[in-house]
Amino acid sequence: MVDHFYSLESMSTTEIMNLITMSHELRYKTCTIQTPLVAANLFFEPSTRTKNSFLMAEKKLGMETIDFSPETSSMKKGETLYDTVKTFEAIGANALVIRHEADDWLEELEEKINVPIINAGAGKAEHPTQCLLDAATIHREFGDFKGLKVVIAGDIKHSRVAHSNAALLSRLGAKVYLSGAPSYKDEDMQFPFISMDEAVEIADVLMLLRIQHERHTDATNEIEDYHDNYGLTVEREKRMKTGSIILHPAPINRGVEIASSLVESEKSRIFDQMTNGVYVRMAVLTKKLLQWGIIHENQINECITTGGQPITTLYCAD
Ligand code: CP
Repeated sequence: MVDHFYSLESMSTTEIMNLITMSHELRYKTCTIQTPLVAANLFFEPSTRTKNSFLMAEKKLGMETIDFSPETSSMKKGETLYDTVKTFEAIGANALVIRHEADDWLEELEEKINVPIINAGAGKAEHPTQCLLDAATIHREFGDFKGLKVVIAGDIKHSRVAHSNAALLSRLGAKVYLSGAPSYKDEDMQFPFISMDEAVEIADVLMLLRIQHERHTDATNEIEDYHDNYGLTVEREKRMKTGSIILHPAPINRGVEIASSLVESEKSRIFDQMTNGVYVRMAVLTKKLLQWGIIHENQINECITTGGQPITTLYCAD
């Protein structure tokens, strides 16, 4: 069976690096699919960046797109997730981009859905395209991951970004640390847990996360004076290393995990992450459509806009 795109865990490092390299190349080249294809974007949870980044990626590839809103769908009449997703396959979608609040929503779909499913966020478990775009942003900045000190700081326990990123960046050779309020610590994650004051001193990459209020189930998760005790304040940022960068998957709660004035500061790559996300999603969509045999190499128009080299990673074996 050909794989859906749910987690980076099952992918080889070569496959992951090929997607990152391809995303860098797509920045300078257009790559459109000749065959008429339709992507359905099924977001059962709110999204600004991921949904619109996928829509932009699909449009840049020349795909048609179908939007979906659970509030105005027949889920309101009791239709299940499976029947909803199967409907989009039945009406002819060639790829399904799905975000859902459950950690394991793929389980009931993977054997029975016969078009590629791409995970746009699964509960607090996985957000693989966010993880890839974060890695692509780090790779563009430093050229490598080996030896980099990456601190992921914030609501670790409830964050799918923290779980996906810690695993991948560690696999790629970075030294991963976690930071945040003690009640946001995830005891299952075996990485050093440090204070924000230590984090700013050592980090090459400081990845901040918002507090995931929507996933909290008890009041002990509400922290007083969060910004002063656990956030990136203006004073702490001054102690960051030369050449270090600040990442945040967003949405941002300005003045909570990060001082508002630092969101677009010299060290911040937060909006670059969003730009990189479009190219990462183009790479993932193209690779999955090729792997599933929905398109073939000769159906891709590769038009070099700047640079001069063809896309080397498009057709290479993973
Ligand atoms: N980073 C991210 O997933 O943002 P959205 O929730 O807006 O998609």
